[in-house]
Amino acid sequence: MVNSHRKPMFTIHTGFYCLVAILLQICICSQFSVPSSHHFTEDPGAFPVASNGEPFPWQELRLPNVVIPLHYDLFVHPNLTSLDFVASEKIEVLVSNATQFIILHSKDLEITNATLQSEEDSRYMKSGKELKVLSYPAHQQIALLVPEKLMPHLKYYVAIDFQARLSDGFKGFYKSTYRTLGGETRILAVTDFEPTQARMAFPCFDEPLFKANFSIKIRRESGHTALSNMPKVKTIELEGGLLEDHFETTVKMSTYLVAYIVCDFHSVSGITSSGVKVSIYASPDKRNQTHYALQASLKLLDFYEKYFDINYPLPKLDLIAIPDFASGAMENWGLITYRETSLLFDPKTSSASDKLWVTRVIAHEMAHQWFGNLVTMEWWNDIWLNEGFANYMELIAVNATYPELQFDDHFLDVCFEVITKDSLNSSRPISKPAETPTQIQEMFDEVSYNKVVNITCRWKLCFQKKRNNDYKINSLGHWCQFLLLVSLFICSFFRHHTCSIKFKLPLKTYHTTLFFISFFNSFVFLKGACILNMLKDFLGEEKFQKGIIQYLKKFSYRNAKNDDLWNSLSNSCLESDFTSGGVCHSDSKMTNNMLTFLGENAEVKEMMTTWTLQKGIPLLVVKQDGRSLRLQQEHFLQGVFQEDPEWRALQERYLWHIPLTYCTSSSNVIHRHILKSKTDILDLPEKTSWVKFNVDSNGYYIVHYEGHGWDQLITQLNQNHTLLRPKDRIGLIHDVFQLVGAGRLTLDKALDMTHYLKHETSSPALLKGLSYLELFYHMMDRRNISDVSENLKRYLLQYFKPVIDRQSWSDEGSVWDRMLRSALLKLACDLNHAPCIQKAAELFSQWMESSGKLNIPTDVLKIVYSVGAQTTTGWNYLLELYELSMSSAEKYKILYALSTSKHQEKLQKLIELGMEGKVIKTQDLAALLHAIARRPKGQQLAWDFVRENWTHLLKKLVFVYIQCVFFHTDVSVASNQVESNVSQSI
Ligand code: BES
Ligand code: ZN
Repeated sequence: MVNSHRKPMFTIHTGFYCLVAILLQICICSQFSVPSSHHFTEDPGAFPVASNGEPFPWQELRLPNVVIPLHYDLFVHPNLTSLDFVASEKIEVLVSNATQFIILHSKDLEITNATLQSEEDSRYMKSGKELKVLSYPAHQQIALLVPEKLMPHLKYYVAIDFQARLSDGFKGFYKSTYRTLGGETRILAVTDFEPTQARMAFPCFDEPLFKANFSIKIRRESGHTALSNMPKVKTIELEGGLLEDHFETTVKMSTYLVAYIVCDFHSVSGITSSGVKVSIYASPDKRNQTHYALQASLKLLDFYEKYFDINYPLPKLDLIAIPDFASGAMENWGLITYRETSLLFDPKTSSASDKLWVTRVIAHEMAHQWFGNLVTMEWWNDIWLNEGFANYMELIAVNATYPELQFDDHFLDVCFEVITKDSLNSSRPISKPAETPTQIQEMFDEVSYNKVVNITCRWKLCFQKKRNNDYKINSLGHWCQFLLLVSLFICSFFRHHTCSIKFKLPLKTYHTTLFFISFFNSFVFLKGACILNMLKDFLGEEKFQKGIIQYLKKFSYRNAKNDDLWNSLSNSCLESDFTSGGVCHSDSKMTNNMLTFLGENAEVKEMMTTWTLQKGIPLLVVKQDGRSLRLQQEHFLQGVFQEDPEWRALQERYLWHIPLTYCTSSSNVIHRHILKSKTDILDLPEKTSWVKFNVDSNGYYIVHYEGHGWDQLITQLNQNHTLLRPKDRIGLIHDVFQLVGAGRLTLDKALDMTHYLKHETSSPALLKGLSYLELFYHMMDRRNISDVSENLKRYLLQYFKPVIDRQSWSDEGSVWDRMLRSALLKLACDLNHAPCIQKAAELFSQWMESSGKLNIPTDVLKIVYSVGAQTTTGWNYLLELYELSMSSAEKYKILYALSTSKHQEKLQKLIELGMEGKVIKTQDLAALLHAIARRPKGQQLAWDFVRENWTHLLKKLVFVYIQCVFFHTDVSVASNQVESNVSQSI
């Protein structure tokens, strides 16, 4: 469950994207065949059938745009005892074309009454005319049939009374519960609408383009607090002791950003320098964990207001930790909702990486207040504009406000993770122009259900033929196996159901069955952030910022598309510099190539579309020949090899405009060049022993140095690694392992490179090297290749012993030193390194003796608990504490520790508790199953469980996912043939 409170979140919310994407991509089709009311009256038989058997007047998933909402008056009264709510609304609409019906979204709501008033009726207080309501649940729509045609350019008021149960899951208006210190269970009612769940709470025009103002009123009991997007204007006392809070009218916004909550939470508040009131809400016993979030939000809001040169438009911003939450966080305007682990920071139990995460999520959701809330994508196919930018802004904002967190090093890791997924042939572009129905259909196919993936791995390369005609696996073979595991991430491209991956073997068929409930590829949003960062490096920070400001100002309270962004970015460039004869680039030494490039105006757009409309990542192949550099770009692929028949086609179709940067052994100057063709030649000003491309790893490409290129760089690292910048060293480690995986380099080369790590002092670089070697070890271990894994284990321990021994069991040092400490000690204990186990066991028993009162350093907490969980007493004690703990950061660490038990019955018990959803909440079940399945002892158990409970799980985890729980149905092939070839290369 490493990072399980993080990774799932990316994928969880992407689940929603997928769901919506599928739904909405179909909807786009509606733009091409919009039936009018006229058609309906002529031929009602051609229309769908409403639930009462009558023809439903609209057949498309997307709403018609003849009736446009302007304002919603919404009243909601949730009953936290009976767990239902009654509500009413009055929507002011503007009619653009005459029509006889109004189509709204509505899901699982019981409409009790609907009336219509014209503007005039309303002025003269005439009561509304009763409307006939038809419902078409398949499209989550209702139709309000009006007695007389609504006339163009006139305003009307639609009033609807409705009621429903608070939803049981995590969507719409739903029930959440928490346990107090005294053991009492309390209930709250909370909303979560993105992307299409506002319709579960009130009938509405639930599409991002239909922006409107909302005036919300909430009725509640006196012991509760009601919160919404805007501040409260007044509270009215009603008969029977109930209270009704009236909130200020919102700015113009999309329905998915509306939010309201009724709870008994407490808060801490502060005021930003521009006078915005920021409050952090949490359940009463967790108020002491809200201080870090308050400090961070105040800083970040101040930062964003200055950076965007646009004030946050609302008078307040609340951030609230919800005990049951599907994703990591949601950016509702003025009332951001978070999973507890994403907002609360408990100094006693939250580690350095927890702090990084909390800061990051706050920065992300706050960025959405501009990117997403103020300017919204027109349609969900451009959702990367929201998410890509929010991910990118995390980097800018956290670096500026908390430089000590060295967030840029973390961002590098994020992009590396993206690359792993993007280099599979099954990746997909960030966005696709979906203009024609065929193109839309293509998009739909890409995420279709039940897709079965076949990956072929050229195993001939992976085996060595022995004299007795038998085969033994070689080091490339091991890497291939590793790649297979990596390729399992492929699952994140498809919506759900079992996906079977078959590998062609010359010997036997190796069959891996993969199971997942993962939906969609969130990594494209992260890729969005990576390519935006590359663009920023290309344009220069200032110009990039100017472009963003221009974009935000131009589209405030409106919707935008991809092209609008690129136009703003290229305009900022051209207006300010290029037209005045200056340069539009971060480096004043522009090449002619670049001037021409920029002179063509549509430059940025042209370049960026090669990154957004093409899937995958380019590989830059460099060959140095004296002072001349031969460059070639390829489509970098894992799992498809040069001799595969499909290789050529996969190369030919791809071409990127790559803004290259490079430095050489002879000077610190950063050279730039845009590679727009497949091949190119560069002349170096002087002879150098090495060239390093992709300076600071800001570019989204991998580099392969042919000839002696790699050896020269490795020699430099061993002689004096500090001549290369830390991020360049990290980039080299990353690229070398990627190339080994792709069969372009031998494992020896990567191991040669990691040798320099003995002298490495940069914690992020050490962590990178460590993580690759550890991954390799786990791969062997999981596959029961014991001799190899034993050798690797010895190698790892021996290799990292000096730095492991240097570690103290404390929380001292910079964030990265602390994260390195956690990783090293975790590795040491995982590998049964006696001093590590001893120390952890000692701390655990001291902690148990103190009845959990002893403060263990937060960075080693997970390790100490995991060692403690190996005894039955320790495990049981941890489980007890899990139930009682008031810190989600601690609970997460305990759950991880519990899942490391080697006893099947204990793991079984955890799964049962997760299914029950009381002690272990349903929101954590997926992470739990994932954690269990990752351990060699838990794989089979989790697999059997998931198979047996498939239908039930699907219902329970509608939106939650299980990330690639995989199983090898025929491990015998590998285990029979594997010999410790790898250990020889070590
Ligand atoms: N807006 C998303 C959450 C979302 C997207 C919910 C689509 C439903 C559908 C939110 O801003 C987000 O990105 N949350 C992340 C956390 C973030 C720090 C990466 C999440 O939930 O994982
Ligand atoms: Zn987001």
